[in-house]
Amino acid sequence: MKTRGTLRWQLTVSLLLPLLLVLVVDAVLTYHHSLQAAHAAFDRTLFTSAKSIADGTRIRHGKLNVDLPNLSLESLEGAASVRVFYRVDDASGRHLTGYRDLPPPDAVPVFYRPVYYDAAYQGETIRLIALRQPVHDVASAQTRVISVLVGESGEMRRAFARHMLVKTVWRQALLGLLVIAIVLAALHRGLQPLRALSAEVSARREDDLAPFRTPGRPSELAPLVRALNQYVARLRRMLATHRRFFADAAHQLKTPLAVLRAQVELAEREPELAGMRQRLTTMRCSLEDASRGVAQLLALARLENERGNALPVVALDLAEAVRQCALEWAPVTHRRRVDLALQDVVPVRFLGNPQLLQELIGNLIDNAIRYAGSGCTLALGTASLGGQAVLIVRDNGPGIPASERELVFQRFHRGSTARGEGSGLGLAIVAEIAGQHQGRVVLGDTLGGGLTVRVYWPRLLS
Ligand SMILES: Nc1ncnc2c1ncn2[C@@H]1O[C@H](COP(=O)(O)OP(=O)(O)OP(=O)(O)O)[C@@H](O)[C@H]1O
Ligand SMILES: [Mg+2]
Repeated sequence: MKTRGTLRWQLTVSLLLPLLLVLVVDAVLTYHHSLQAAHAAFDRTLFTSAKSIADGTRIRHGKLNVDLPNLSLESLEGAASVRVFYRVDDASGRHLTGYRDLPPPDAVPVFYRPVYYDAAYQGETIRLIALRQPVHDVASAQTRVISVLVGESGEMRRAFARHMLVKTVWRQALLGLLVIAIVLAALHRGLQPLRALSAEVSARREDDLAPFRTPGRPSELAPLVRALNQYVARLRRMLATHRRFFADAAHQLKTPLAVLRAQVELAEREPELAGMRQRLTTMRCSLEDASRGVAQLLALARLENERGNALPVVALDLAEAVRQCALEWAPVTHRRRVDLALQDVVPVRFLGNPQLLQELIGNLIDNAIRYAGSGCTLALGTASLGGQAVLIVRDNGPGIPASERELVFQRFHRGSTARGEGSGLGLAIVAEIAGQHQGRVVLGDTLGGGLTVRVYWPRLLS
């Protein structure tokens, strides 16, 4: 059987993808922040350099003399990957020293207030500081203004950000893996009750149909255990029905088969053809009884098996069904000289199963013919009463005593009025069919003697 992968794998994948996304977003943010931090730190160094250049500038003999402090440049050039550029101009923009083509800022900076900016220089983006401040010479009481630009290639800042990024990504990846490992371990532990239940189910013996216990299991498993128990209960019911059917069938067949055997033995010894014919007729009757008994048993077993399942129903006219049954039974009633009449058959529409309805009416007609006897009167009628469809089967036979009216619905129960062969299943079938239609069967007296059976069907259609 093909399963849809393990839960562990599904969970890993569904955790890994979002974690990866988080990692990427975090990496981008980390790089961005690291770069900002690097800018803040390195800009300060740039400022120190620019400041020391500006502070080291003197006026000598009326001329500006830029004294490049070694320290400021060394500290910047200490790292091999950084290149430092500088440029000092006087107030009129005359170049004093440094890189003549170093790009100035867009706006002229205010005194002492440094301006930081990025600009393209020698094929790369460099970071620059522009500082403008006056230079005083107390001795000659002169003041001049200088503008200092110091630029620095960005490799160091980017390397710093990259370094931070790699460190963070490693840490995050490790944490992510740890989270997945923890989740998987928790899952393994969480699934333990399910494994225990599976082991319990597979260890069951075939004939052990006891319900599975619910206490001691996590509540999430309760629906599964409940469904399992429902299934087991269904199995138990089905097995019981089957067992009962086999026992009943054996019981039903035992007597007719014994009778048949006796008849065959007698027939074998019969010297006359007429006598043999007589035996054969008895054998046919036994066979007919046996086959009717088995048919009844099969019908009831089939009905009981279907109990609980949705019954396939259609819109039916009860009057139509009664007429059809009367037609089918006409040869039998004619033979038995039974007066079968349709009395007050009015159209009544309801939801029902046509085959089962025929079986029900057939059983009631069969009973009336059997127990009211030849020459009796049998009336079929329909009515709609209080939102229910009603079927009425009335005979003028011996009726059923009030004390027996419950008992006759039991399987294999034959009443005191029973005559001839019968299995005692007819009314059980009638009650089962009515029950599956949510209907009910009521036995009553016929005025002047006899049995009146009324079947009520609740699913009346207008
Ligand atoms: N119309 C009736 N008049 C008098 N007694 C009846 C009538 N219908 C049923 N009974 C009594 O009720 C009993 C049970 O009837 P039911 O139809 O269940 O079984 P059965 O007719 O004996 O056997 P089966 O119908 O299975 O061949 C009968 O044995 C009979 O005594
Ligand atoms: Mg019967």
